[in-house]
Amino acid sequence: MPAFSATAPGKIILFGEHAVVYGEPAIAVPVFSNQVRVVVTAQVKKKSGEIQIEAPDISLSTTFEKLEIDHPLRAALKVVLGDKDPTETPACSIQISSEIPVSSGLGSSAAISAAIIRAFSAFLGQRLTDEKISDFAYEVEKIHHGTPSGIDNTVIAHQRPVYYQKGNPFQFLTIGKPFSILIANSGKPGHTREAVKHVQDGWLNDPDKYNQIFSRIGEISNNAKELIEEGQPDKLGELMDLNHELLQALVVSSPELDQMVQTAKEAGALGAKLSGGGMGGHMIALVKDDAERIAEKLLLSGATSTGITTVKNRN
Ligand code: PMV
Repeated sequence: MPAFSATAPGKIILFGEHAVVYGEPAIAVPVFSNQVRVVVTAQVKKKSGEIQIEAPDISLSTTFEKLEIDHPLRAALKVVLGDKDPTETPACSIQISSEIPVSSGLGSSAAISAAIIRAFSAFLGQRLTDEKISDFAYEVEKIHHGTPSGIDNTVIAHQRPVYYQKGNPFQFLTIGKPFSILIANSGKPGHTREAVKHVQDGWLNDPDKYNQIFSRIGEISNNAKELIEEGQPDKLGELMDLNHELLQALVVSSPELDQMVQTAKEAGALGAKLSGGGMGGHMIALVKDDAERIAEKLLLSGATSTGITTVKNRN
């Protein structure tokens, strides 16, 4: 039976979350150790239009028809179908499996959308460009996050490090020298939508203060871009620390994230910060040879899981 499969990586934001929503630049990289895989298999004996969906990680077993109209999985299929009548689509079964924890700042929603869009469009005989997959995934992201900046779908669809600024063409980053990032889960879910709203409320209340913070974060992203491209990653640590302080000033950190940042630093990380929407989710730390030891310390002080990703150019 013909089957079409696609994977999509997770992502971390190295610099610039939240400020990116207000037009400042940000830097994000894919994380290949945590991926989503989608397999679309034709069901030749079934009636056209029968689209079965199996997503055991979120205990979902249903059909396209039964999904609520604004369900993100339905939306991901719908953007591919466009004006096509779903009842005329060849019957198929869609298996979704994900190693990316949900609500944790690792881009689970964008990765699920991107993998579905890639696999389902291939099943329908359309080969979409990464650009198109990113645009389609962005449409679905709006359901999850309201007003997403677009950074998640961009880095995940293109699967390469990106420098992203809303309203400008994004740039792929050339990594001058590979570097390692330790990723640790605080065990508390992140709350991107609430965090984005919280920052918006603060900004409406005191625009001067918030604009100043955003532009300082933007400067950090620009400095980081140079260091990454010039092959001086060790100097990124200080910028991560500064970025975390500014995220604290935006009140999107949490006691667990702050504790993990401190633990990582005390254990020898060159710098650390929360990553993604915050209020929970993941912390990232720049590490060298002592990654395993720092990971152990984090696990002892409350992190529920850790992983290491190497930021490098794609082969
Ligand atoms: O929590 P995540 O991984 O979806 O990241 C959100 C990043 C924000 O800058 C806070 C929002 C956005 O749309 O860019």
